[in-house]
Amino acid sequence: MSYTIGGPPRLFGLVPCAGSGLRAGTDGPKQYAPLAGRPLVAHTLEVWAGLLEVEATLVVLAPDDDRFEQMVPQWQGPRCWSARVGGLTRAESVAAGLAELAVRGVQPHDWVLVHDAARGLLQPQWVRRLMSACGDDEVGGLLALPVADTLKQAGDEEPARVDATVPRAGKWAAQTPQMFRLGLLRAALAAAGPQVTDESSAVEALGHRPRLVSGDPENFKLTWPGDFALAERLLATRMAPSS
Ligand code: C5P
Repeated sequence: MSYTIGGPPRLFGLVPCAGSGLRAGTDGPKQYAPLAGRPLVAHTLEVWAGLLEVEATLVVLAPDDDRFEQMVPQWQGPRCWSARVGGLTRAESVAAGLAELAVRGVQPHDWVLVHDAARGLLQPQWVRRLMSACGDDEVGGLLALPVADTLKQAGDEEPARVDATVPRAGKWAAQTPQMFRLGLLRAALAAAGPQVTDESSAVEALGHRPRLVSGDPENFKLTWPGDFALAERLLATRMAPSS
């Protein structure tokens, strides 16, 4: 890939896809569980392949993944990258993916949009909303939703009981994509360590305040067994011919 040092920042996608997905109760990693006849991650990657303003998207796979190419045969061509560099946590997988992007010529000032493979109902217009909100931003930002429900803090016992009610005012639930410059994100994740659960929290820990950009309730992460049935119902209504 050719690039110009100091040229305008470009956009790249990074999709961590190296989790085991134990909470989903699926037979094997949840990113390969069937959703409307295709593996979950195939839905996710179809969106990234279609976003032509993104130069290339890197899928981060587990080192022992032996089925990605068979499960997602459409993922090929100069804008569709993959690397078996996943780690034990999501943060380690993302950090390894960022190192791989640097090896492939992505510059510190280029933007990277990190998106969970497990958010398979992503729509391109939500990604474009994030890009246009953050393209001129000093820090970057993320898709997120203001919390509508009252939040409860549970204790340790089973069955669960409420320890406290957490004030919901000003609280947002973080989604992905999360959009930051490669250089800032690499430094932030290196400082934050392997346990952070999103990119924004690592960037916040350096003292920055990322932009919150409205996401969508349908952009949920398929996590629990019932999520697949819900996602299939939503996809069925999206694909239904209008009458
Ligand atoms: O486990 P969780 O649902 O938070 O995972 C979010 C995303 O991070 C998923 O797409 C999953 O495949 C990915 N992941 C990863 N490497 C890990 C753990 C999770 O790439 N070690």
